[in-house]
Order: sequence, then C-alpha cells, then structure tokens
Amino acid sequence: MKHRPVLLDETIRWLNPQPGQRFCDMTVGGGGHTRALLQAVGTAGCVFGIDRDGELLRETTQELRNEGYGEERFQAVAGNFGDIDVLLGAARLGEFDGFVADLGAASPHLDRPERGFSFREPGPLDMRFDRSGGPTLKEALQALDEASVRRAIWEYGEDRFASRIARAIVEARDAGRLTDTQALADVIRGAYPARARHASRIDPATRAFQALRIVVNAELESVERGLRAVLDGMKAGSRLVVISFHSLEDRIVKRLFRAASEGVQNLYGHRSAAPARELFRRPVTPGEMEIAGNPRARSAKLRALEKLADGKIDVSRV
Ligand SMILES: C[S@@+](CC[C@H](N)C(=O)[O-])C[C@H]1O[C@@H](n2cnc3c(N)ncnc32)[C@H](O)[C@@H]1O
Repeated sequence: MKHRPVLLDETIRWLNPQPGQRFCDMTVGGGGHTRALLQAVGTAGCVFGIDRDGELLRETTQELRNEGYGEERFQAVAGNFGDIDVLLGAARLGEFDGFVADLGAASPHLDRPERGFSFREPGPLDMRFDRSGGPTLKEALQALDEASVRRAIWEYGEDRFASRIARAIVEARDAGRLTDTQALADVIRGAYPARARHASRIDPATRAFQALRIVVNAELESVERGLRAVLDGMKAGSRLVVISFHSLEDRIVKRLFRAASEGVQNLYGHRSAAPARELFRRPVTPGEMEIAGNPRARSAKLRALEKLADGKIDVSRV
C-alpha cells in the first residue's frame, strides 16, 4: 500500500491550487503531492515535477501516465532542485502559481534495501538519491577521517554518542568489517552504551544513518541554493510550501522565509516594502493521528510563503 504523503491536506490548503493553475513539485518521489495538485488544477492545469532520483521519477511518471495524466498535464525532469534555475531556465520559475518541496528520502528509498538507506535489512553502502553519479556511502566513508565522521553524526544526527560511534565506524572500516548497511547499523548499535541502547525509543542507528545520508547527498547545500533560486524567480502572488524533517533544514527555511518577509532598510533608515510574506510564523506539524499512521511524519515541519512582488529578493545578507 502507498504511504499517504506527509501533511498533504495542509500542503494543499496553503498552496491553494485553483483549476487551470500551474505548479512545480520539486520533490516528486512517489507522486503523492503531485497527484493531489493534479486533481486540484483539473484538466486545464498542469504540474511540473523534479526529482534527483531519475529511476524513481521514471517509475512515478509511468504510474501517472497509466492513471491518465498525459504530457500536457504532467512533465518532469530528473535533477537536483538546487539547480532549479538551470534545470527549468530561471525565467520559467515565474510561470508557476506555486512550488512544493517535501525534503529528504522517499518511502521507496527506505523500503528497498538495495538502495542502501535501510538499517533494518542488508544492502550496499550507497544512500545516493541519484545512483547515476557521485560518491556512494562506502566511498564517502573511505574518504572521511574520524573527526569528520564525528562532526557529521553530531551536527546532522544530533546523536550524543557521536564520538563513540565515529570511533567504532572508523575501526570497523579499517578492519574491513563494513560490508553492508546491516553491518554498519550493528557497529553503530554496538557503540551505544548498553543502558542507552535498551532505553532508546528509536533504533540507535536511526540518527547516524540520517546524518550519513545528509552527507552523501549534500542535502543542506541543495536546500539553501534551491530555495534562494525559487524565492528570486517566483512571480507575485505565487506560493512556496516546504516540508522539512530535520532541524537544520527547517532552520534554513525559516531564515530565508524571514529574510524574504522583511523589507530592506536603506542608509536613511527607510524600510522598503517586504517582497514576500510568511503565511504563518510557527511551522505546521502533523497531528497525533497522522504520526500514528505514519511514524516517519513525526519530525515534519511545514512552512509557507507568498511572494508579494515580482523580482529578486535580497536575501544575500542572511
Ligand atoms: C519525501 S520524498 C517526496 C515524497 C513525495 N512528496 C510524495 O508524496 O510521494 C523526497 C524526494 O525528494 C527527492 N530529493 C531529495 N533531495 C533532492 C534534491 N536536492 N533535488 C531533487 N530531488 C530531491 C528524493 O529523491 C525523494 O524522492
């Protein structure tokens, strides 16, 4: 059974799609948000999709075609949304009535051990969204020293046992014991003190796996670049909804949205009109029912912004 997309009703509510409008789904994944947008914009509207995972994007596109969405209603390009201005051409960003980015990994990544994201079943040490290029997890781990592994697990995984985990990973790597994701997960679990391991509500490998995924895919850099490009290129009246799953991602979204929602003060103290407005200040989070049905939703945070004037936004100062 397909997972229900995270914060779907809230995404649609804040994007407010109308018949005939055009939307860009920057993270198509399994197509959940795309489908809801396609239904809302009707036969006169369309959705343009992006995903870094070309294999998954092809699968989802085929499913959408089978469901009757032809090229006039759904088109897609595989690529990193960090390069959205290049992928689409900067001028085309102004053609959309709204953008959605639902960050992180998709269910098929986590559910298919051969993709190397799963700590529950053995798979290759890969973790790339885009398997057509770039270093795999195995190659990244070969290149990193213990201090870098520790920093990644501490900063991106916020795991208080980062030092112990990093030491254990590097020792296992040097001894040739990191054969697959299962072996890596066991090394991480083993690095936890026994009491903490038993007391942990989540699998002790969860945070370190998330951290390594962020490193392999350079995820935070893409979020920063992609959102800046969209904020610049969006037309007046269009909206941007971002769903993040990590505090550092949310911090980037919050910082850029705040900056875009403030006018710029000139030398004489005059403040220009704000080029955008945040639709609400505190992020929207899933309710208990959604989390019970989909535990992956538990850390989701949704923020939404509306552009008020055409043209570039000066967020360079943040
Ligand atoms: C949480 S899933 C999206 C799920 C989707 N909204 C749905 O309803 O099925 C995130 C997707 O974003 C893709 N992704 C992650 N980082 C990306 C990036 N920088 N550029 C483009 N796609 C990215 C992943 O490959 C994954 O398919």
